[in-house]
Amino acid sequence: MNYHIVTYGCQMNVHESEKIAGILRDHGYTRETGEEEADIIVFNTCCIRENAENHAFGNIGALKKLKRQKKGLLIAVGGCMAQEEGKAKILREKFPFIDIIFGTHNLPALGEMIERKKKQKKAVVEIAPERAQTEDGIQPVRTSYPNAWVNIMYGCNNFCSYCIVPYVRGRERSRRAEDILAECRDLVSAGYKEITLLGQNVNSYDSDGQGGMSFPELLDAVASVEGKFRLRFMTSHPKDFTEELAAVMQKHAKICRLLHLPVQSGSDRILSLMNRRYTREKYCSEIALLRRYLPDCEVTTDLIVGFPTETEEEFEETLSLVREVGFSSAFTFVYSPRAGTKAAAMQGQIPEDVQKARIMRLVEAVNAQTREKSAKYVGKRTEILCEDYDAKKGLYLGRDEYGRMGYFADKRSRIGEFVTLKVTEANGISLYGTAED
Ligand code: SAH
Ligand code: SF4
Ligand code: F3S
Repeated sequence: MNYHIVTYGCQMNVHESEKIAGILRDHGYTRETGEEEADIIVFNTCCIRENAENHAFGNIGALKKLKRQKKGLLIAVGGCMAQEEGKAKILREKFPFIDIIFGTHNLPALGEMIERKKKQKKAVVEIAPERAQTEDGIQPVRTSYPNAWVNIMYGCNNFCSYCIVPYVRGRERSRRAEDILAECRDLVSAGYKEITLLGQNVNSYDSDGQGGMSFPELLDAVASVEGKFRLRFMTSHPKDFTEELAAVMQKHAKICRLLHLPVQSGSDRILSLMNRRYTREKYCSEIALLRRYLPDCEVTTDLIVGFPTETEEEFEETLSLVREVGFSSAFTFVYSPRAGTKAAAMQGQIPEDVQKARIMRLVEAVNAQTREKSAKYVGKRTEILCEDYDAKKGLYLGRDEYGRMGYFADKRSRIGEFVTLKVTEANGISLYGTAED
């Protein structure tokens, strides 16, 4: 039998879809295909911003005809949007043809839900408020070789005032360090060349005491696993960035020279309203500390414009921070009110045209900087880990340890190899060049 999975949202969800694939394989769905040929279609949804939800709604709705034509086709909807308060009801009303709805905490039971649905006419809906254990015993079907995602923790305790994640992912739960280490050792033995440790806020790993060591200690232990591989981690929260972490990064060449440290805003008043619990000054001093240990380390970030009550001057503080820190790239977002969060109830929501004008200026500022930094690569060499082939461009691609994307032509597949790229051209975050053997 065939399966098809549609994934929205962050890396956490990408990896969770690999787990969903693992469950499907255990239940007789052995081949991944397009939706037309599939016997089951699973939507792994996201609700971080309104457009993520609209996307999923549109794609689920588009299946109405296929579902009518194809007897026995199962449609399941899971992930963060399914977990959101009141969303399961809306999904069922809008799309009565959905067979299974499962919350983020119910993912391990998906196989059992499929079996149940096959025996009954009624839809199966399960949305648990919390997931107790962190080890689910699911063997993921990994789809991003040579990279492998590894969860180190689940959930988030931070309650940034704009964010829905704590409501749909529950409280922080850390996996045991020894289980994480065993998984990493297995991945390296199996030939994976890059490991990315995943958590909403990796710096607060072990906040529940279940991990057995701090995040810097865990990073140190994983980086000490024998073999040639790269180590990445995301996401770090500036409120608990430490010198110890910078020191561990410096100690191991395996840890990529890249820190993703979302700042969100350059204005202290907005940061406080966002409940981020750091100031612009503290953020900048962390970057300075990081660069004392690793002068060449690149920093990327997430930025939100148009948060309630944000003034023109406060937005310009975000622009000036982009220049001050020198981010190598940034994810930029227009604030999207999420039902049930504190910010959604605030007075002073910013009109859409103002938000749009701000995001355009911000994107231009970030891009200008990215271009400037990339241009410095031309004529130099950088080692990339080849991870894919871009059929449209006819080029192989991979990233270097600073997060740049490098493209090159080759007659044979280089996927999974470390390749030295001689850079001849730069375009945005992308570098083009020739591979040297
Ligand atoms: N745990 C990570 C990432 C969370 S989601 C962290 O704390 O940084 C990824 C990004 O989405 C956030 O960093 C933030 O910039 C953005 N985001 C979250 N909620 C949002 C909202 N309601 N509107 C717009 N952007 C949002
Ligand atoms: Fe959301 Fe803040 Fe948690 Fe990140 S740290 S997931 S932005 S609540
Ligand atoms: Fe990720 Fe979206 Fe959920 S960003 S944690 S999939 S709300």
